[in-house]
Amino acid sequence: MANVFLIGAQWGDEGKGKIVDFLSSKKDIIVRFQGGNNAGHTVNIEEKKFVLHLIPSGILHKNKICVIGCGVVIDPKALLDEIDELTQRGIDINNRLKVSARAHVIFPYHKILDNVKEKKRGSDMIGTTCRGIGPAYVDKAMRMGLRMHDLVGDKEIFYKKLKQNIKEKNVLLEKVFETEGVDFESVYKEYIEYAEKLRKYVCDVVSYIHNNAEEEKSFLFEGAQGTLLDVDFGTYPYVTSSHPTIGGTFTGCGVSPKYVDNVLGIAKAYTTRVGKGPFVTELNDEIGKNLQEKGREFGATTGRPRRCGWFDALAVRYAVRVNGIDSLAITKLDILDGFKEIKICTSYKCGDKVIDQFPVDVTNCIPQYETIEGWNSPTDNIRDYKDLPEKAVKYINRLSELTGVKISIVSVGAKRQQTFFKDMIL
Ligand code: IMP
Repeated sequence: MANVFLIGAQWGDEGKGKIVDFLSSKKDIIVRFQGGNNAGHTVNIEEKKFVLHLIPSGILHKNKICVIGCGVVIDPKALLDEIDELTQRGIDINNRLKVSARAHVIFPYHKILDNVKEKKRGSDMIGTTCRGIGPAYVDKAMRMGLRMHDLVGDKEIFYKKLKQNIKEKNVLLEKVFETEGVDFESVYKEYIEYAEKLRKYVCDVVSYIHNNAEEEKSFLFEGAQGTLLDVDFGTYPYVTSSHPTIGGTFTGCGVSPKYVDNVLGIAKAYTTRVGKGPFVTELNDEIGKNLQEKGREFGATTGRPRRCGWFDALAVRYAVRVNGIDSLAITKLDILDGFKEIKICTSYKCGDKVIDQFPVDVTNCIPQYETIEGWNSPTDNIRDYKDLPEKAVKYINRLSELTGVKISIVSVGAKRQQTFFKDMIL
């Protein structure tokens, strides 16, 4: 059966959780491959709202197996809280969650470092989620991080490694950042308790995935964040510290490009961004406010208001290229319902040049728009692509032309039944 790789094509918050939920019923195993609990994937099922930060949204479907790969950084408390909340709400996790022994662990000093570094940056702050994500990836690249394998393995070795880490981190915290360090004994005790509860989920995910692939199981690989937050391909340094792009799927769970049958990009019908950094089509006016209010654009993890703007075709076409996206799911089309005119950014003016390809540095680029007539009628009650207003179809077709790929899925609201196929994907 075919595998789908699902990737955010903007700055995150494209509605990936909802689309993963929509597609999960058709796949056997759903895999998260990067990021951590900086993500917030919202899924609405009937009147119930679920916000998932670490566990793939596929967990909401009975009998589906969810996997967290080695590219993810795990805050054990956040993971346990999520397991507890889902269990309390009647979702059975038992035997359905596999966590990579190779995944790195987030410790309290990572969160403190994330916070103090942001404060030190002052007005140049990145606007991180302060969940310790960046510092945990730093330790991984420095080859001093602790993995789930260490956490649930030999206690003496874990004790020694953690002690060494905390010794170094406390020097950094106290001498460089002039803040209080952490107490080794209490962190050790706290994490040993987490280890007891998490041990049963931890396994060799590489073998697990390949064994299942040999049994013809199908996979959905669930990206978090988005292409423009990728540490290499995003608007650096205003990015996250992982690879939410296609390459991240291979390194983040140990599969090869041979697994790719279909790459599905997710993009909102307009653009949002949370945190700092350049955003060419940002609207600091009534229209931006309107998009924010109608779209309920507040972060699912931090509650921060999201910045809003028109659809940026350069940015999404860039995501299409970087990821080899086969088709796009366009979410939140209904938010544009009341607009008389809708704009799409088709080029940037940078200095005296007009460009139509997303550049390395977008600071000071000015958006050039084309204007499309709005459909000015509700779409949230529509359940089939062919029932969309003609002008909404025109808008979708124009997005397809400008980004160079077909649109396979459209969504017009938060509920499961408000998502429909335009073109069937694998
Ligand atoms: P970090 O990932 O917490 O280090 O934050 C780095 C940047 O990525 C900040 O601008 C965050 O707002 C942004 N970011 C991280 N996770 C998400 C997400 O799930 N959705 C949208 N933005 C995110």
